[in-house]
Amino acid sequence: MSVFATLGDTSSPVRVVQVGAGGMGRVWLQLLVDTPEVELVGLVDLDLEAARRALAEVGRAQIAVAASLSELVESTGAQAVVNVTVPGAHHPVNTEAMFAGLPVLCEKPIAPTVSRALSLAAASEASGQLLMTSQSRRYYPVLAEFKESLSALGDVGIATTEFFRAPHFGGFRDSMDHPLLVDMSIHAFDVARYLLDADPVSVYCDSYNPAWSWYAGDAATTAIFEFEGGLRYNFVGSWCSAGLETSWNGSWRVSGSRGSATWDGETSPRVEGDSAERSPKAPDAHPGLETIAGSLAEFIDAIRTGRVPSGEVHSNILSLAMVEAAVFSARRGERVFIGALLEDAYRDSIEAEGRADVAEVLTGWGSARSGLGPTT
Ligand SMILES: NC(=O)c1ccc[n+]([C@@H]2O[C@H](COP(=O)([O-])OP(=O)(O)OC[C@H]3O[C@@H](n4cnc5c(N)ncnc54)[C@H](O)[C@@H]3O)[C@@H](O)[C@H]2O)c1
Repeated sequence: MSVFATLGDTSSPVRVVQVGAGGMGRVWLQLLVDTPEVELVGLVDLDLEAARRALAEVGRAQIAVAASLSELVESTGAQAVVNVTVPGAHHPVNTEAMFAGLPVLCEKPIAPTVSRALSLAAASEASGQLLMTSQSRRYYPVLAEFKESLSALGDVGIATTEFFRAPHFGGFRDSMDHPLLVDMSIHAFDVARYLLDADPVSVYCDSYNPAWSWYAGDAATTAIFEFEGGLRYNFVGSWCSAGLETSWNGSWRVSGSRGSATWDGETSPRVEGDSAERSPKAPDAHPGLETIAGSLAEFIDAIRTGRVPSGEVHSNILSLAMVEAAVFSARRGERVFIGALLEDAYRDSIEAEGRADVAEVLTGWGSARSGLGPTT
């Protein structure tokens, strides 16, 4: 599906309520305040003091705060919501916003499970509102350059990401069962789908917690995905590996029949091979907006024009399915097929759905595959 309500007025700033004023919420607040195309009109957080402090930090102490979205929708004349709550709150907040008539730009992951994400895709259809995931690591001019460089490699067959960092976050990640897989790997998995232009088929994953890890759950993993056409994508990473850290985008290598390309996640890619050698294109002199500024710009464009953004919920679900399949594989010690996982999640989502209008849309799909439509 790609039809959603658009704003009639395309010239005035879009009135936005943000939900979530934690670590990432404060980064979003600064962006909203600095972006002329939007007007921040309200901030929601269960912790009202945290919300007030966050607003004071960006010089907007006068903006309305509340502990729930419903308290602010009418009084602020909100036109859109940016959801930066913890993953467990994404489904209720997104659903509430869409059925209040507001499009939503939501931090990744769009929901904690594929089943709940399917419910959100159906809720987007039932409400007629856009739901977009902010998959912020797609917005790098150098990533587009890396993708472009792959065309010189002939038939692409192998892709790998190495991701090694040692952040001490505190908060919800420290107690998750699979912090690296669930909170971080979706960025790399989503980029792999973008680079390879193919759908993932299956995964075999090993996940573990090194002896010195400060996380309660597994902070390290190796996942081997098969994509359509037999292509393999390997992700190996750790969130407790200090020293020689990779970039936040990880370190990439792609091999094809005529050569290989590498990307350190930050600077221009390198390409080498039989007839593949080429000078990478010079970086765009007018690079697009990066990370969350890029996703905000695409969201605003979408709700003004109806153009379907790359993080639209239906197309984003396969990235989340890669995460969930990797977690299931690590737990069961066996290969997990993503098509089967999607259909299991689809049945669960119908059973668990609390809204009749959303359940009707889900049932009408017939299968997850047909509900999601083309995904690459
Ligand atoms: N794209 C990125 O690079 C990136 C980086 C960091 C975090 N994130 C994502 O951003 C989101 C938030 O992460 P964080 O680090 O800011 O978490 P956090 O725990 O620091 O903050 C979350 C905030 O949400 C509030 N909250 C929770 N449930 C709520 C509800 N129902 N209604 C209103 N407020 C609620 C909490 O009170 C808290 O203030 C997560 O989904 C995370 O994965 C993305």
